[in-house]
Amino acid sequence: MFETIETRNEGNVTLITLSRPDALNALNAQLMGELTQAVKQAEEDTAIGAIVITGSEKAFAAGADIKEMADLEFSQVFNEDKVSAAMDEITRCRKPIIAAVAGYALGGGCELAMMCDFIIAADTAKFGQPEITIGVIPGIGGTQRLTRFIGKSKAMEMCLTGRMMGAEEAERAGLVSRIVPAAELVSNALEVAQRIAEFSRPVVMMAKECVNRAYETTLTEGVLFERRVFNSVFALEDQKEGMTAFVEKRKAAFKNR
Ligand code: CAA
Repeated sequence: MFETIETRNEGNVTLITLSRPDALNALNAQLMGELTQAVKQAEEDTAIGAIVITGSEKAFAAGADIKEMADLEFSQVFNEDKVSAAMDEITRCRKPIIAAVAGYALGGGCELAMMCDFIIAADTAKFGQPEITIGVIPGIGGTQRLTRFIGKSKAMEMCLTGRMMGAEEAERAGLVSRIVPAAELVSNALEVAQRIAEFSRPVVMMAKECVNRAYETTLTEGVLFERRVFNSVFALEDQKEGMTAFVEKRKAAFKNR
């Protein structure tokens, strides 16, 4: 049983809700451990095709837990490093993960959202890397992922000033894929996740792998990787079913093989 998150399955989607209301969902070691476990469970569950991670109306997550970190020494953060290890597990998940963000997504909260495959933002969302204001720097990918999402100038400004960015600016800058009214955030994210979960699972995972490859390699290598994956989908029954269904003007019934 989890104490700092809640999980429930809706259709073919697992919804994970961060739940430390007294600390604006600050990411402590327990929450990160539970989140990793929940993501792993969803990944192993063959009925599940996509995952949504959300927080509360006020905060997706207001960062790593400052109270837990305040007295740590170098040797502890270096030797133990539990939060980063947990975060790495999340980026290893092969099923799509959508971050549904309302309110604050700051520091580690913004970094967690960026580790998901895409971000749907409520109109109330506020993103930022305010670590500089408390005498540290982003520690779980913020300087790297934010720069890739929104470019050097804006990322540098965010990291050096600690200022927050509202939902509209975040959408303009390419950090979020869409903005929805706060009241519809979770239902909208679940709908998008369910749509993804109904496609061929191996093909969805291959598409995710290919898009992620764009961040890790040159254009020529990335395009070659994509072409080889594209070639390989023709070994799947789902490719035959998808194309036959199109020709026969009916909805495809994918079997995930
Ligand atoms: N860690 C621990 N506790 C936190 C927290 C955090 N990151 N953010 C908020 N809280 C706690 C507050 O201490 C407070 O608890 P108490 O009532 O026990 O004092 C409670 O959550 C509510 O917060 P506030 O009273 O501050 O709420 P507010 O509405 O006045 O302000 C806020 C909201 C602007 C988000 C403010 O809470 C804030 O600035 N939080 C810290 C943001 C931050 O600096 N995040 C970066 C953390 S470092 C990091 O993430 C490093 C990394 O990359 C790995």
